[in-house]
Amino acid sequence: MGDFQYEGKMGLREAIVGRRSVRRFKPDPVPKEVIEELFEYALWAPSGMNRQNWYFVVVTGEDRDKIVKVCERAYHSHVKGTVEKLFAKAPQVIKATENFFATLGGAPVVVLAYADPGPYSEETDIQSVAAAIQNLLLLAYEKGLGTCWMTGPTFDWEEFNRLLGMEGKKFIALIPLGYPDEEPRPPKRKPGRVEYRGFSEEEA
Ligand SMILES: Cc1cc2nc3c(=O)[nH]c(=O)nc-3n(C[C@H](O)[C@H](O)[C@H](O)COP(=O)(O)O)c2cc1C
Repeated sequence: MGDFQYEGKMGLREAIVGRRSVRRFKPDPVPKEVIEELFEYALWAPSGMNRQNWYFVVVTGEDRDKIVKVCERAYHSHVKGTVEKLFAKAPQVIKATENFFATLGGAPVVVLAYADPGPYSEETDIQSVAAAIQNLLLLAYEKGLGTCWMTGPTFDWEEFNRLLGMEGKKFIALIPLGYPDEEPRPPKRKPGRVEYRGFSEEEA
């Protein structure tokens, strides 16, 4: 981390607006050096009390296949019921979600984000890891990689922790990573989510 001259070409706003949740990937492998570079910058996120309490496990190959199997089981044991209720009128969404959990869209790499629990606040621990995850997603997009931030699998955290030997850490999110094989449409952003108080009329 000695050299802070970041060579990225994409503007920050372009990355923020252009990043999408990708759910279909090309099988092409992602070189380890590329992933290492993403983390070199992602971990510059802020963290509560500067604990830098994130911990990421990056898997590919056979280990990745085992993760996908657990995901598929997690869908049936912990996610399916909610999805079927929420999308009762959209069977195609139910089918696509089930398929995504069973395949992770063919992503060659899976990133599992963990938090080291601290003595004070679980919310703070989670928010710190979330900040690093968002950095990771934006950096991946800048490198032409696709990602999807998933918390669905974490409902079956015990299975994942057992598989990875991660007892004592909190499973925050699972992120498939790879070269995208789709260009998802951007979902509309909801208006009225920011309220300004105390500004004069001219400023507001
Ligand atoms: C905390 C969090 C949890 C999410 N969990 C899932 C998930 O389990 N499965 C999934 O397919 N997408 C998941 N998503 C992705 C959202 O569905 C997606 O961000 C949203 O629909 C907006 O689309 P966009 O990311 O392309 O802007 C999650 C996103 C966040 C931030």
